[in-house]
Amino acid sequence: MSSIAEVGAAVIGTGFIGTVHVEALRRIGVQVRGVLGSTPERGQARATALGVAHAYPSLDALLDDPGVDVVHVTSPNDLHVPQATAILAAGKHVVCEKPLAMTATESAELVQLAAQTGLVNATNFNIRYYPLNQHAHEMIAGGGLGEIRLVTGRYFQDWLLLETDWNWRLQPDRGGALRAVGDIGSHWLDLMTFVTGQHVSEVMAELSTFIGTRQEPTGPVETFSTDRSAEAVEREISTEDTASILLRFDGGARGAVSISQISPGRKNSLVYEIDGSQGAWAWDSEQPDQAWAGHRERPNEILIRNPALMGASGQAASALPAGHVEGFFDTFCAHFRAVYADVVAGGPSSWPGYPTFADGHDEMLVGDAIGQSAREGRWIEVDRIGIATTAEPVTPGLV
Ligand SMILES: NC(=O)c1ccc[n+]([C@@H]2O[C@H](COP(=O)([O-])OP(=O)(O)OC[C@H]3O[C@@H](n4cnc5c(N)ncnc54)[C@H](O)[C@@H]3O)[C@@H](O)[C@H]2O)c1
Repeated sequence: MSSIAEVGAAVIGTGFIGTVHVEALRRIGVQVRGVLGSTPERGQARATALGVAHAYPSLDALLDDPGVDVVHVTSPNDLHVPQATAILAAGKHVVCEKPLAMTATESAELVQLAAQTGLVNATNFNIRYYPLNQHAHEMIAGGGLGEIRLVTGRYFQDWLLLETDWNWRLQPDRGGALRAVGDIGSHWLDLMTFVTGQHVSEVMAELSTFIGTRQEPTGPVETFSTDRSAEAVEREISTEDTASILLRFDGGARGAVSISQISPGRKNSLVYEIDGSQGAWAWDSEQPDQAWAGHRERPNEILIRNPALMGASGQAASALPAGHVEGFFDTFCAHFRAVYADVVAGGPSSWPGYPTFADGHDEMLVGDAIGQSAREGRWIEVDRIGIATTAEPVTPGLV
């Protein structure tokens, strides 16, 4: 294959994020050959609404299409592993949504299978691809903040605030044993590993369920939807609404993060601050085109995303000049451009710059430690059992 225009893709799942995948693929020039919905009828209705030519009647039919080189998995969490396994077995590259799996045992097997097949594999930790996060990664790797000491922040949303709010994520057999941590905490934790270059090595966590009983509507519910049917049944809830987690990183940094899906007014607020010996850096996903740089002996700065003022990684993730605001959609384009460069090359490069299945598995291991720590009320070490993650080699000299 010599160009991205020759690559065919298909998207499994046609909900909130499946739609974003379809649009982003089109923007970077990939042909979206078709989608697979939960039923042939729903898939056809969504294909029509999105202007996609084809709705596959089944996963087998999708995998039989010789024009599909890459499959994006955007279905609920419990389907990620079986679908990604079938895609790899069919010889197709795969981009899978987070969390990669329901358990770390499953994600370890998926990492191994992907390595055996030699196919491109990516976990969609798209938040890395805000240009200022790419820039921060490069700047910190180059020593721009000195020694990294403290990593703090939050990921807050409010869409599960009410007992009438419902989604498949509330069912552990669909979403996993961890809910707020797996759904949004995984993004924050992956982002901090990417930006600081340090992995979480130990955790001390408290998980809290404030809404112990919720009303499940008898009809289907779209993610983030506020429409409610009149009829509902009561469901006991076992997964966490909030998490408070102390962190130790393998490079010596310490940290703390709060995660919540019940914080009134916070729609999708991922915030972090990294304090180093020579400076600090802070970013907020609801103001993604600017970052704060903190100094002790000179005035603090606001960097407005600007390809002319950022390192090579920040420039590569930027599509527009400064002042032309970029956002959530654009991160998918930047991420997929990086992934599809390997697809065009025929396989993963030795240091893929994008998050792979190994990175998705690493977040599953951190999640396991968080769950165990909350159950046992003590610090727990993250149990890494021999699978290397794909941190890039350090780029020296960039500040
Ligand atoms: N990276 C991000 O920023 C981000 C944001 C939101 C969601 N996600 C992830 O994306 C996934 C989907 O989340 P969502 O918010 O889009 O959920 P959603 O409920 O809006 O969409 C899920 C879709 O999958 C479909 N589906 C169900 N069973 C299926 C099957 N057997 N085959 C094919 N399709 C099937 C549903 O009909 C629905 O259209 C989750 O894993 C979630 O964690 C990631």
